[in-house]
Amino acid sequence: MPDPSQDPTLSPYERIASLIPEDSPLREMNSLEEINAWLSKTVLVPIDENRINPVLGTGPADADLMVIGEAPGADEDKTGEPFVGRAGQLLDKIMDAVLFDRDEIYIANILKSRPPNNRDPLAEEVEAHIPILYKQIELIRPKMILAVGKSAGNGLLGKSSSLASLRGKFHDYYGIPLMVTYHPAALLRNPQWKRPTWEDVKLLRTRYDELGGTSRRRDS
Ligand code: URA
Repeated sequence: MPDPSQDPTLSPYERIASLIPEDSPLREMNSLEEINAWLSKTVLVPIDENRINPVLGTGPADADLMVIGEAPGADEDKTGEPFVGRAGQLLDKIMDAVLFDRDEIYIANILKSRPPNNRDPLAEEVEAHIPILYKQIELIRPKMILAVGKSAGNGLLGKSSSLASLRGKFHDYYGIPLMVTYHPAALLRNPQWKRPTWEDVKLLRTRYDELGGTSRRRDS
């Protein structure tokens, strides 16, 4: 049978939805609230048992831009919201520099639970959690995606490339333009990467405007 995720006659959202395993309860869900209720009572992998809070994501349910990181850290685990610690504050500044307010963007991670001591996600954790992100993309229908960091970029694109080779261009993510740039936590340690990040988000903003993404600040 042909693989629907590779069928260019389908919409990007139908293609991505086809990646959700057929036996997953996510297939039947119709809202982010429904996903959140299920997530908070479901253990898919051991890190789900040890979290304080699951972190599904925040932002408008019809956002035109999704920003996707790797996994919650300690601050996110405590609050249940993505990117609220130091890295999150830098992310807000980066997005603000290209006229995106945080509340215009849907922000999420590949993993919805914090890995202990912020270790890298395990392959089985990504496999168990990434269908939740597929469902979020199916429901939100973003025009564009920004992946921050090598792990998020490679996790989405199914690659194992360096950040330097992933960034600076758009990837075709099942028909959605996807940019990968440096993770804000990496920028806190390596400020010399701020300039290429700025180049990346400028390209993102230009394409967003070309695609007719909604924008409070541009249109005011
Ligand atoms: N780093 C991430 O990748 N995601 C968060 O939510 C916080 C830090």
